[in-house]
Amino acid sequence: MQDYHEFLQKILIDEEQLQRRIKELGKEISEDYQDQDLMLICILRGGVMFLTDLMRTLSVPHTIDFMAVSSYGAGARMSGGNVRISLDLTSSIKGRNVLLVEDIIDSGHTIASVLALLKTRGPKSLRVCTLLDKVERREADIPIHYRGFEIPNEFVFGYGLDLDEYYRNLPFIGVVHPGKYIQPD
Ligand code: PRP
Repeated sequence: MQDYHEFLQKILIDEEQLQRRIKELGKEISEDYQDQDLMLICILRGGVMFLTDLMRTLSVPHTIDFMAVSSYGAGARMSGGNVRISLDLTSSIKGRNVLLVEDIIDSGHTIASVLALLKTRGPKSLRVCTLLDKVERREADIPIHYRGFEIPNEFVFGYGLDLDEYYRNLPFIGVVHPGKYIQPD
């Protein structure tokens, strides 16, 4: 795998900006769910870094669970909007205040499908928290209650977002230099 420095065009959001904003979100969420039960659901895999940092900023008690949606490829997802759950929750959401935690919302079809499914399971409330919102690319009309950053329509990676599954560990959000990133075989 290439060293990421070779194709990093620029850092879009640095570590300090990310952590500062996550603390703000954590404060807002803690105020909103004061004295209420809360369950965070992370959609694997991109949301993991954000979830673990966000939950450390929360002052309200909460539980976590995970789900994964199968990737039919971006094109299929964009045209169809129907995603298949490849890993389901291990706990019930009935009567619970659920907050979906995502790294990025792009077309919005993934979160729209997950919201539609989870609504059928009778949560008390259902909200969305995304670190990044690529609003220009939105196709599905979805409610976003907590948003870290609105970002331009650029090819981004790091802090949970991958390039062919690598570099999710980077502590910042970077932009890929057009033409310099070579897809590995
Ligand atoms: C990313 C991201 C969202 C989805 C957003 O996941 O984590 O789940 O794409 O795209 P959409 O709004 O156009 O539906 P990805 O499929 O890259 O999987 P990953 O989280 O495992 O990297």
